[in-house]
Amino acid sequence: MKVLVVGGGGREHALCRKLAQSPLLTRLWCAPGNAGIAEVAECLDIKAEDVGALVDFARAEGVDLVVAGPEAPLVAGLADACIAAGIRVFGPTAAAAALEGSKGFMKDVVSQAGIPTAWYKRFTDIAAAKDFVREKGAPIVVKTDGLAAGKGVVVAMTLAEAIAAIDDMMGAKVFGAAGDELVIEEYLEGEEASVFALCDGQAAVFMGAAQDHKRVGDGDTGPNTGGMGAYSPAPVVTPDLEARIMAEVIEPAVRTMAAIGRPYTGVLFAGLMMTADGPKLLEFNVRFGDPECQVLMARLNSDLLPVLVAAAEGRLAGTRLDWSDDTALVVVMAAAGYPGSYRKNTVIRGLESAGQVDGIAVLHAGTARTPEGEVAAVGGRVLGVTAIAPTVREAQARAYRAIGRIDWPEGFCRSDIGWRAVAREG
Ligand code: AMP
Ligand code: GLY
Repeated sequence: MKVLVVGGGGREHALCRKLAQSPLLTRLWCAPGNAGIAEVAECLDIKAEDVGALVDFARAEGVDLVVAGPEAPLVAGLADACIAAGIRVFGPTAAAAALEGSKGFMKDVVSQAGIPTAWYKRFTDIAAAKDFVREKGAPIVVKTDGLAAGKGVVVAMTLAEAIAAIDDMMGAKVFGAAGDELVIEEYLEGEEASVFALCDGQAAVFMGAAQDHKRVGDGDTGPNTGGMGAYSPAPVVTPDLEARIMAEVIEPAVRTMAAIGRPYTGVLFAGLMMTADGPKLLEFNVRFGDPECQVLMARLNSDLLPVLVAAAEGRLAGTRLDWSDDTALVVVMAAAGYPGSYRKNTVIRGLESAGQVDGIAVLHAGTARTPEGEVAAVGGRVLGVTAIAPTVREAQARAYRAIGRIDWPEGFCRSDIGWRAVAREG
């Protein structure tokens, strides 16, 4: 089978590495890819958002399956364009990708489906939004309706912060049109976890659980990022809770999406808060998490390719996936300054030696080759050092042992990824 993966981050490197192991694979492309992906796939000079060029390429090469990594091309209609061209695609249509593209739509579906979640209200009027937070009081959460590169969420611990967030998002439009509509919702307290499911429009199959570290600093302090590390399995998602989350969150969402004429195909990523009253949904994403995908792929024993094809063809029912019982843990290395401004084109050495540490895969998130053939950092999150081992403690030790071999003075990482899970292990 000929496969085209869309995207160029650590998630797509993990997907490409896994797909490259499939005996069914004959050719693998990635658009645009990165320096690490180039070792397992042919990288294309096509942007992930350039839906027209992606579909033209897939048609011309007779691609059998397009695998969408990030949300933006899906929200822009990548899956619709593939379906129209008769190309199999793993990923939701634009109408279904609105589960991530519009928080207001997501909350409406969730309430129709009866999924446990924070109470909420949608606003297009700034004065009404402010009156509502004054009435409800803090802590309260203010979100832009549209995509804001993961930054359109303010967890306001005071009323003043909530009012300021409304002014920024809806008044000053700091996230542009994403702030034309706001969702204001209940503040939930607990430990967060991510649950993934493969969906084919009707059926859903559990695709693993993970926990990530969103804050940039040790001890989960400092600004939010796209994720500085993750581990799987998620100790808070016990087998009981896994079954409950499939039955109370994932399956009702898939049923409701089918009922409203927007059947959901692809991976559904539920961001959950484990509250004292049980798991509650924070958000849906229409893609694998990054870096969560890296740890899921490290633990997946089954061949990924036939499962993605089955999802694209509506044949998932009855699928069972085989997982390693080991723990996978990824530590993200980022450019100094991230998530603020950072330098680009700094050279990274020692990657080969790091990759030789037992149980390690060094995944590239934001890298490119220099004309001299060296690996340079070209993004904020740059590497994902992924380890697998029988215990969380050993996986963590392996990841940091490999990082010790990486020579990149302009990079940094957190030193405590997995601390909660290590503490639980005792
Ligand atoms: P989101 O993009 O909706 O996942 O929000 C980003 C982060 O904000 C989440 O991972 C949570 O840490 C936090 N968050 C979002 N919604 C809530 C909520 N209702 N209560 C508490 N924290 C929240
Ligand atoms: N790591 C969180 C995400 O991919 O949204």
